Amino acid sequence: MKYAIETFDLTKKYKDFLAVDALNMKIENKSVFGFLGPNGAGKTTTIKMLTCLIQPSSGTGKVAGYDIIKDPNAVRQKIGMVPQLVSLYGDLTVRENAELCADYYGLSRDLKEERIVELMELVDIKYAENKLVNQLSGGQKQKVSIVASLIHQPDILFLDEPTIGLDPTTKRILWDLIEELNSKGHTIVLCSHDMYEVELLCENVGIINNGRLATFDTPQGLKDTIIEEERSQKNLRITEIMGKLREESEMNGESLNKLDKALVDVEKEEGEFRELSVMISNMNQDLFEKISNLPLVFNVHQHKSGRLTMDISCAECAVNDVLYFIIENGGNITSLSTKDPSLEDVFMKVTAKNQAEGD
Ligand SMILES: Nc1ncnc2c1ncn2[C@@H]1O[C@H](COP(=O)(O)OP(=O)(O)OP(=O)(O)O)[C@@H](O)[C@H]1O
Ligand SMILES: [Mg+2]
Repeated sequence: MKYAIETFDLTKKYKDFLAVDALNMKIENKSVFGFLGPNGAGKTTTIKMLTCLIQPSSGTGKVAGYDIIKDPNAVRQKIGMVPQLVSLYGDLTVRENAELCADYYGLSRDLKEERIVELMELVDIKYAENKLVNQLSGGQKQKVSIVASLIHQPDILFLDEPTIGLDPTTKRILWDLIEELNSKGHTIVLCSHDMYEVELLCENVGIINNGRLATFDTPQGLKDTIIEEERSQKNLRITEIMGKLREESEMNGESLNKLDKALVDVEKEEGEFRELSVMISNMNQDLFEKISNLPLVFNVHQHKSGRLTMDISCAECAVNDVLYFIIENGGNITSLSTKDPSLEDVFMKVTAKNQAEGD
């Protein structure tokens, strides 16, 4: 089975409101998939349909090879779910909740005992096993929810914002657990607003906006798309400016000067820069001034250590040009790094673009 999950025009309507709009998505088997999107985008609704908690209005999906409409019981046996809002029995203890879940899946008495203890120890909640769930903190409830969802070792685990409210140590335990489960062949679907978490864990990411899938790629692929888009937008602007100048006059000295200035203005106006950081062992004031005057370089800062940080244009040649320039002028570079767009930048861009297109 290549895909753990496939959706086919999966749609959910609440009266006239389309919460999920003809979603077509494929999630590879044994992968960790990050499902992102702004509040109200349709993530939880999609997950509820895929876990057979609610029925689609139209379209369907396959989970672990089973159709969610035709075969919901088979789907339920293959999945585990940590819901966004913890759904446990508040007037039962931690252990009783876990036992109830184990009984639902028909685990033998020995296996039940073994798994409950193992999982409670894993997320560090065993010390509270005889406490009523009602008396637990938010993070403690989340831990019990995780125990309950893993009791039958599901092939596919849905986690809807599982680390909200967890302290940093418990968060790490859960991240390690996700990696461990995945290395054992479990598929994980992770809804999250925590971009660090998504980058750390997910091989593929889907961003949903207004019920529609806005983009789907690896985290690096999404960032590369942004760099590429910025580049082509800028090229368009440059072509536009050159066209205008050509119309104005033949390319004489004055229009070439204008062109130079206009190109620098494009860089400034578009405001899309990459941060470049270079360590230069023989840094001096003369070199600093020369670098500061380069046309594709802005906001140069000199640090006592000899490090220079600067914003440079996203133009393809910019990094190369700056480095050559430093070397040609006798600078000895001992380290360098550039800062690419973050997944958060991708999120903002994709959801803003979709918003604008929807308006
Ligand atoms: N039972 C319901 N009845 C009517 N509308 C609903 C219902 N459940 C969800 N919605 C609406 O569907 C949309 C999608 O909700 P959903 O919970 O799937 O968003 P989400 O992407 O999970 O958001 P969040 O990041 O806030 O958890 C929202 O506009 C929400 O108000
Ligand atoms: Mg949600």
